Amino acid sequence: MGRVLNKPLPGVTSPSGLRARPPATPAAQPAAGGTTPPPDREFAFGPADFERIRKLIYAQAGISLAPVKQDMVYSRLARRLRALGMSRFSDYIDHLEKGDEAEWETFVNALTTNLTAFFREAHHFDILLRTLRERTHRPLRIWCSAASTGEEPYSLAITACEAFDSLTPPVRILASDIDTNVLAKGEKGVYPMERVDRLSPERLRRFFLRGAGAQAGQARVRPELQQLIRFTRINLLDPRWPAVEGPLDAIFCRNVMIYFDKPTQYAILKKFAPLLRDDGLLFAGHSESFLHAADLFKSLGRTVYERADRVGGGGRGPHK
Ligand SMILES: C[S@@+](CC[C@H](N)C(=O)[O-])C[C@H]1O[C@@H](n2cnc3c(N)ncnc32)[C@H](O)[C@@H]1O
Repeated sequence: MGRVLNKPLPGVTSPSGLRARPPATPAAQPAAGGTTPPPDREFAFGPADFERIRKLIYAQAGISLAPVKQDMVYSRLARRLRALGMSRFSDYIDHLEKGDEAEWETFVNALTTNLTAFFREAHHFDILLRTLRERTHRPLRIWCSAASTGEEPYSLAITACEAFDSLTPPVRILASDIDTNVLAKGEKGVYPMERVDRLSPERLRRFFLRGAGAQAGQARVRPELQQLIRFTRINLLDPRWPAVEGPLDAIFCRNVMIYFDKPTQYAILKKFAPLLRDDGLLFAGHSESFLHAADLFKSLGRTVYERADRVGGGGRGPHK
């Protein structure tokens, strides 16, 4: 499968790409005290600024920012104000609301949290390995829907290679994220050694190339793994996901739903269900539960779900 990365391109920054929901209602004037930076702060940032940002990122990406995130928002966006020569957050938000599309992309990229790791929540990959081994009779498709910097889709690709004992298994992986910076890193497939040093020596030898000279201290994933993956930008909030080709054998949607409220989660799950094969699996993060969407997905245990309307249901026991 060819790889396409929607970098900061018109498709990424276009209104249809970024403005999945109508822009949030512009907030009222900055609160008193929001215009003068406190002595320890370089830029003026008050509660009203935070409220405006909270509404904007919710409207764009579905991310619900708790009030405790004010310092995080300040530190992540301060460098944008510096780069743009602004001194007040209210000016920056006005600038965003005027519709600078490239800045919208930077804004969203700055506010996402991208923590990930190879084989994070390892039991999911054991379950996937068993599932893939049962399905050897046709090409398989997996969607990794919050792929971050690529460790998760590469872990899926490694699992596929191990399931079929081949570097060219009949598996295609779509790796997507809203954040174009992390997608670019994922597509590159180069990681500091400390990101891979918990992998077994066998996996390191089989699936990575060790950097030498100027690349010392880095590991590059083998090109065969990259061939299995297509990286592209998808906002889970978008009403349609034309890049996703079903039917899918598995959807990995891990550690992203926690940033969304329940109605947003439900709307996404409703679009996942018809994309999955009847016997397809949905993998969630360790602290995510979809009990509120029991009409759509049934838990198999260990944060793995199957379609609630599965026709041949009952054949698969809870995951151990
Ligand atoms: C904490 S990381 C999880 C990465 C990986 N799934 C894992 O479990 O290790 C969450 C990812 O979700 C992405 N994300 C946040 N909002 C999103 C949205 N509306 N659509 C798609 N991806 C989103 C972020 O950019 C980030 O890379």
